[in-house]
Amino acid sequence: MTRSPSVEVHLMAGEVGCRWARDHHAVAIVVDALRASATITLLLHRGAQDVIVVKEVDEAHSYRRAHPGTLLVGERGGLKVDGFDLGNSPVEIQQAEVRGRQVAFTSTTGAQRMVDCLGAAAIMAGTTINATAVAQQATRLAHAAEIPIVIIPAGLATDPAVVAEEDWLGAVVLAAHMDLPLSPESQPPFQDYQQRIRSTGLLQGFLHAEHGQKLVHLGFMEDIRLCAQVDLITDTVPILEEVVPLPCGGRGLLLRRGNSTYATPL
Ligand code: MLT
Repeated sequence: MTRSPSVEVHLMAGEVGCRWARDHHAVAIVVDALRASATITLLLHRGAQDVIVVKEVDEAHSYRRAHPGTLLVGERGGLKVDGFDLGNSPVEIQQAEVRGRQVAFTSTTGAQRMVDCLGAAAIMAGTTINATAVAQQATRLAHAAEIPIVIIPAGLATDPAVVAEEDWLGAVVLAAHMDLPLSPESQPPFQDYQQRIRSTGLLQGFLHAEHGQKLVHLGFMEDIRLCAQVDLITDTVPILEEVVPLPCGGRGLLLRRGNSTYATPL
């Protein structure tokens, strides 16, 4: 395939990455490696009809009031939100019955970052567990429209100073699955985190991260093990299909299991 010089991969964390995705009308991939990207992937892989990603807990509740039967999934402080059906735990989702259900999902950071990408050409949730599927679909979209890809390590929405090592590790796994040039600024962090993966492996990298330690403390070691499995899921790319007006005034992202069409008009 002939390559356009604009079809390049950028690694850019947090709000800066979301803004860049909007400003450059890029393909945005939000990586919340522990655990939002994996939870959303598992929900769709296990047959949830769609996942509406919202920023606020109140938005999820109000969505369910307007659409009874919606399953509420998500966390605050790492724990299931009061009144929700399931937490932001991929292991919990693996054991839950979600087939055919509509889901409203919120989390401290991953959900915020996804909504903040609104305006990008496409928005996906990607991570280690669906790395190859996401890398392939993002590459197809970027080539077809001759636009860049930005992989966004989500970070921590409540503290922009935090460097979320687990999200960088997940982002680097994704970038390594793309046969595309990396932007010059992205090369030093790419090499640094790749070296860490080579020397200690992903699981140790996740466990070393501050958020990994917090999750172990909260009893979610099995989630971390699951999230460290590259290509556990090979057929699911959560991708924005439609922007949904919320009953209380905000906007939610309706994600479906990806196919090769564009998520939003380019
Ligand atoms: C988030 O979106 O902030 C994380 O996925 C938090 C978590 O691990 O529950």
